[in-house]
Amino acid sequence: MSFKALWITETADGKIERNIIERNIDDLPPGEVLIRVQYSALNYKDALSATGNKGVTKKYPHTPGIDAAGIVELSRHEDFGTGEEILVTGYDLGMNTAGGFGQFIRVPAAWIIKKPTSYSLRELMTIGTAGLTAATALHKMELLGLNPTQGPIVVTGSTGGVGSLAVSILSTAGYEVIAVSGKQQAWEYLQHLGAGRMENREWVNDTSGKPLLKPQWAGAIDTVGGNTLVTLLKGCKLEGCVASTGLVGSPKLETTVFPFILNGVSLIGVGSAEMPIETKRIIWDKLSNEWNIKDKLNAIGKEVSLEDLNTTYIDSILRGNSMGRIVVNLNL
Ligand SMILES: NC(=O)c1ccc[n+]([C@@H]2O[C@H](COP(=O)([O-])OP(=O)(O)OC[C@H]3O[C@@H](n4cnc5c(N)ncnc54)[C@H](OP(=O)(O)O)[C@@H]3O)[C@@H](O)[C@H]2O)c1
Repeated sequence: MSFKALWITETADGKIERNIIERNIDDLPPGEVLIRVQYSALNYKDALSATGNKGVTKKYPHTPGIDAAGIVELSRHEDFGTGEEILVTGYDLGMNTAGGFGQFIRVPAAWIIKKPTSYSLRELMTIGTAGLTAATALHKMELLGLNPTQGPIVVTGSTGGVGSLAVSILSTAGYEVIAVSGKQQAWEYLQHLGAGRMENREWVNDTSGKPLLKPQWAGAIDTVGGNTLVTLLKGCKLEGCVASTGLVGSPKLETTVFPFILNGVSLIGVGSAEMPIETKRIIWDKLSNEWNIKDKLNAIGKEVSLEDLNTTYIDSILRGNSMGRIVVNLNL
């Protein structure tokens, strides 16, 4: 049986090409569960994989897509039956295992989560890895004692995937959110997601050389890295916490220890792809209950075809122009 997939190839002279081709199910990697993908979504990492980044995908040809939601077509594992609705995010999906930018995937049962009842498959992919990452950041911050009375939380890259979900989850959880964005026109969107205030990127790009700044926020969820992350640490209140989730600005972190040893600030890491499946279930459970953001998802998700993903949206996310989540409907 054949199916449609985005196919990234590397030519003999090292050039990367992207095409949509027909593949055969027999050519998928071995695995316990064959899934008919209904929706996927575009993450920054997928765009890197689709443009030949060897840090993400070592070997081509390849189909990216670290997120997939769909229906079990065939299962050799007792936990999952034909016709069941499920989702997969992270692990090796879309990295070096054929991913969600194809109409079928085959994966180990240990990567699969049963569909939470409160969301549709499309809504699950609007949240996807981005939402799992943002929610995990807040989960870890709250384990350290953070609560809404301690002050505002800064979200950087706030119109992007992780950022939009972070603003939505934080505001649903009762936090005051300061959304940092490079997009002047984004205020109405961010306000709808629950931001109380918007600042530009320079506001968290301190170049004074001071080791500490006036404490202004109780915490931050950062997608940018580099001097933005350094600034977030310097301006964090006593005993606050800053979660590092991304590197769209820079992978570097050149800081002093003063925020840690004088202000007791904690720096938290989030790596949602390799998180144990039990932790992923806990986070999806929170997203289904006290952090339910169903009412924000229509504004965040834009549904596109595999063809549009290929011609427009992969390049757009790499230029930093993306707003919200690009949700791929594999049936269009
Ligand atoms: N740790 C994890 O498990 C995990 C999971 C998912 C993603 N990530 C990482 O998180 C980051 C964001 O991913 P995403 O999928 O949300 O990407 P995205 O949708 O492209 O969002 C990134 C946002 O960052 C801002 N931005 C872009 N370039 C910038 C620059 N040079 N300096 C400052 N801000 C910039 C833009 O928002 P504004 O215009 O609003 O500023 C952009 O929309 C990526 O580095 C990704 O690899 C990590």
